[in-house]
Amino acid sequence: MTRRRLAAGNWKMNGTGANLSELDALAKAHPTPGCDILICPPATLISRASAATPAQISIGGQDCHQNETGAHTGDISAQMLVDAGASYVILGHSERREDYEESDTDVRNKVMAALSAGLKTIVCVGESLSEREANNTLDIIGGQMAGSIPDVVTGDSLVVAYEPIWAIGTGKVPTLDQIGEVHDFIRSRLERRFGAGVGRSTRILYGGSVKPTNAADIFAVSNVDGALVGGASLSVADFSPIIAALE
Ligand code: G3P
Repeated sequence: MTRRRLAAGNWKMNGTGANLSELDALAKAHPTPGCDILICPPATLISRASAATPAQISIGGQDCHQNETGAHTGDISAQMLVDAGASYVILGHSERREDYEESDTDVRNKVMAALSAGLKTIVCVGESLSEREANNTLDIIGGQMAGSIPDVVTGDSLVVAYEPIWAIGTGKVPTLDQIGEVHDFIRSRLERRFGAGVGRSTRILYGGSVKPTNAADIFAVSNVDGALVGGASLSVADFSPIIAALE
């Protein structure tokens, strides 16, 4: 099973129209990329980004509501993301689980909405530092996967991102053995639940302080099919070498 690797940038709450030129520069630096490239800008930029960005770069959202329409002030549905030009959405990021108290059930409902709208869906899982120190990492990841990923998943529409909370924006990264242990575990859980097809075609990304300096080592770990990058995705100078390490 060959999985096409994915370099995904999560801009979080960063970026205005002035930053769209980064996407153009990124496209020029990777005219025929050897991996999939995705940028998830703030919702305000999705429409402009998808209109202005060459097709080799996909555009995605950072969240969606579980309903298609309705009285939910400030929210955006999966269908609205598609309408704006998004083809992916990140769901269950630890910042949303923490800031908005999103539960596994909330995430699962959003994933179902996103998949049925035709979006590829990046589901984030990851342990806190105290959970790792208590040797609970695999239990936490297994529980988040069971609760956040719906039973019906087809093809390569699901992507799982392993993001240890303590590695996000801190410059701290798990050892390569620790990354490999979690990614192998995620793969085995996917195969056990969904069988060989979806189990082997689902891409598993690592996220948390990925930089040009550590990318190649992380990408050599088994079952690491790419990265979900925060800070280093904001500039071409940092993101381009990370992409190159995946190509
Ligand atoms: O979703 C990506 C993210 O949480 C990792 O952020 O800044 O550590 O690369 P960063």
